[in-house]
Amino acid sequence: MFFVVKSIYLCRKLFKMILPKIVIAIDGHSSCGKSTIAKALAAQLGYIFIDSGAMYRAVTLFALRTNLIADGKVDEPKLISLLPQIKIEFHYNPEKQKSDTYLNGENVEDEIRQLPVSLHVSPVATIAEVRAAMVRLQQEMGKNKGIVMDGRDIGTVVFPDAELKLFVTASPEIRAQRRFDELSAKGETVSYDTILQNVQERDYIDSTREVSPLRKADDALVLDNSNMTREEQMAWVTERVKERLG
Ligand code: DC
Repeated sequence: MFFVVKSIYLCRKLFKMILPKIVIAIDGHSSCGKSTIAKALAAQLGYIFIDSGAMYRAVTLFALRTNLIADGKVDEPKLISLLPQIKIEFHYNPEKQKSDTYLNGENVEDEIRQLPVSLHVSPVATIAEVRAAMVRLQQEMGKNKGIVMDGRDIGTVVFPDAELKLFVTASPEIRAQRRFDELSAKGETVSYDTILQNVQERDYIDSTREVSPLRKADDALVLDNSNMTREEQMAWVTERVKERLG
């Protein structure tokens, strides 16, 4: 029995090694589960997973900590001048079986998910110089392929030649409810209405900003997961990957 299981495991490993590696770009609205899909897919394929939103969140945390955001307004020239001092990395956390985001050597994975960062990240992500710096880093991370990256401009700007592009969406109400459940489970007390408003505001800013607005790449496949379970989504995505890998 052990021998059979071990053989299956080795065959799968070998299969993963001989398959050509591709780039998978997953874009879509906030809180629609892009990262969950991307993470699971990367684990399945033995690929690197990068949550590009975490990078904009880390820059926002830096701006908040250095008092570069007041009354919702970002001191853009100052933040741009300090960009060379911002070092963002991802380190695998074996306990959580996922990568954590590091800002200048500090693990900020939890802090970047909290409301103060969520409330201010959109204006930071509209700054062209911030985007250029993040895009450079992202392209560097994907240069050897074998990567699943999720964000807003991955299929349109970061990897326009990605072999597989997905555009994930769900209704704002469903996304707000998911976010509410997630924060409540962590013990945070935030009202559903505040979250819904934040989701709608972020959709608006993300899709109307001048630099790299959120839009579906022409060759992206749409996944509306409003009424889909996680298993259904993974089955759908796995099929699309199989088609691409032949
Ligand atoms: O996916 P998220 O909600 O963690 O993203 C945080 C913010 O960063 C959100 O306002 C959109 C922005 N973002 C972006 O502009 N481009 C990306 N590639 C990823 C995220």
